[in-house]
Amino acid sequence: MALHSEFERILVTEEEIQNRLDELAAEISDDYRGKGSIVLVGILKGSYMFMADLARRLTIPHYIDFMALSSYGSKTVSGAVRVLLDLRADIYDKHVLIVEDIVDTGNTIDYLSMMLNARNPASLKSVVLTRKVGKAINTPVDYLGFEIPDVWVVGYGLDFAERHRTWPYIAELKPEAYSGK
Ligand code: PRP
Repeated sequence: MALHSEFERILVTEEEIQNRLDELAAEISDDYRGKGSIVLVGILKGSYMFMADLARRLTIPHYIDFMALSSYGSKTVSGAVRVLLDLRADIYDKHVLIVEDIVDTGNTIDYLSMMLNARNPASLKSVVLTRKVGKAINTPVDYLGFEIPDVWVVGYGLDFAERHRTWPYIAELKPEAYSGK
């Protein structure tokens, strides 16, 4: 099948994603086994597909919850993040795992970690599908799917102006697709 005309190339194939999810789910299940039910906190909207595929592979008790966050202004300048949707349940004394599709500047995960830690969970870790290579971020990522180049990526939950979220792979967008030519 021909690649979408706005895509430069496929960065992470469907098979690579699915195989890596098997590994991540096995590792997470091993690490949390015997600790009771863990809370998966998916960050909308980008993580919806990752959350669904990862959660179905876990072999430990878990439940899912979601948050929606939005950055103020330019992500490269402002570190401020606004909460659009908060968790339904209290996470006090729970083992919490943040499920994120991408860490770019790190603003979102930094803010989120600070906010969720203030609620005194038993533990707080993160599983992140993709992280841009070479970026200095404060919050450590505990489980990482893939390091990717610092380009605009779409697919598998990731969007450009709400488009391209549902591709089963992660693709690099051509610069002319977002530079307003
Ligand atoms: C994306 C992504 C992360 C955040 C990462 O969300 O899902 O939450 O950006 O970027 P950062 O490390 O620079 O903070 P976005 O704001 O695009 O919203 P969406 O998930 O609804 O598309």
